[in-house]
Amino acid sequence: MQNSIDAKDSPSPPPPAQIAEGTYWLGERSPGQLLDTNSYLRRFVAGGGGGDEFVLLVDPSWASGPKRLLERMDAVGVGGEDVDAVFINHQDPDVSTIAAKLVDEHAPDAAVLCSDDTWELVHNYGIPEKQFVSLQDYPQRMRLPNGQVVVPVATPFCHFMGAMMLYDPEARVLYSGDLFSSLTAPEDGALMASKRHLAGMRAFHQMYMPAGNALRGALRKVSDLEPTPRVVAPHHGPLIPGEFLDEVIKRLKGLKVGVELSHRSDDTSVPGWQRVLERVVDVAESRGLDDARELVDAISEQVRDTRGWMAAVGPRLGRPWAEQVVRLFAQRLESLDANAVRFAALEAAADEGLATPRIEVGTESDRSALMGDGGDANVDRRTFTASAGV
Ligand SMILES: [Fe+2]
Ligand SMILES: [Fe+2]
Repeated sequence: MQNSIDAKDSPSPPPPAQIAEGTYWLGERSPGQLLDTNSYLRRFVAGGGGGDEFVLLVDPSWASGPKRLLERMDAVGVGGEDVDAVFINHQDPDVSTIAAKLVDEHAPDAAVLCSDDTWELVHNYGIPEKQFVSLQDYPQRMRLPNGQVVVPVATPFCHFMGAMMLYDPEARVLYSGDLFSSLTAPEDGALMASKRHLAGMRAFHQMYMPAGNALRGALRKVSDLEPTPRVVAPHHGPLIPGEFLDEVIKRLKGLKVGVELSHRSDDTSVPGWQRVLERVVDVAESRGLDDARELVDAISEQVRDTRGWMAAVGPRLGRPWAEQVVRLFAQRLESLDANAVRFAALEAAADEGLATPRIEVGTESDRSALMGDGGDANVDRRTFTASAGV
């Protein structure tokens, strides 16, 4: 089995986009995905363009591997060996695995900028200690070797305890990591966010942010930034233009997330979830699942068998049942259509003011690609059987 991820079979990436002065988006918009990733490159040039350059790579990630990221960097005239520093918001593998590989193979002298908490985990990828620069040593701001300045902004528990954003006050770009990230409709390739992305943003934060007080604390820090950001550059989904930021903050401030969504009374809101299901069935049918309605009846039988407590009050109840329907529809559809159904569920839940249903964000094809030849992904799931008892 090959361990490295090869870009050769992946579709062509979009060209890099300049999002601010000396600042480039090197992200991906894979048709069919709910969770696109963004990486960024900042070329700081001191002295109004005539001074030393400092190259900062932010959230290096690419579903298809570092080779693709290097190709995109090359398109803006930067090689891996030109990178002076890599910034990592937190240690999650969607950013830190490629960061470690890139640093190891192409930028062995680059500084790795992150919090102490992040480093405690990320060093396990084999990055030498000498490359670590703790952002906690620069609580106000950090002057780069060429004289320019970046501002670390701690966002504890958004979503990792040691998560740290980085603000570039000159270009007015805030690298926010998973904060301000979104799930996106599978055929939505937008670079910049607008109102239609609020449902996917809501879903992302409900799924990945652990607690509202942590989220509100981080949002307050963003509101207090001087000068105000012109662009918020998250790790997933569309970027937030400055003129849209107040509205996004207002929406996220009032959102219940993470642990606050456990055991919610709206989980069993029958009329609300019924309307969600109607939309899910419509989308499934439009995507070619002609027997979607019959399947709903079949699943209600299944639920009656496996969830005894539900049988007592009727099988067509609330969130768990809706989630089961979405899961079954998704299994019957190709990846892109399955994700359209999943996204319809979270969008409909947002319109109803219901908690985001649990949906699978990755796809089988992602997992096979990550496994190389897909061999280890072929676990025989029939071995495992759900049981109503303990
Ligand atoms: Fe994360
Ligand atoms: Fe992430």
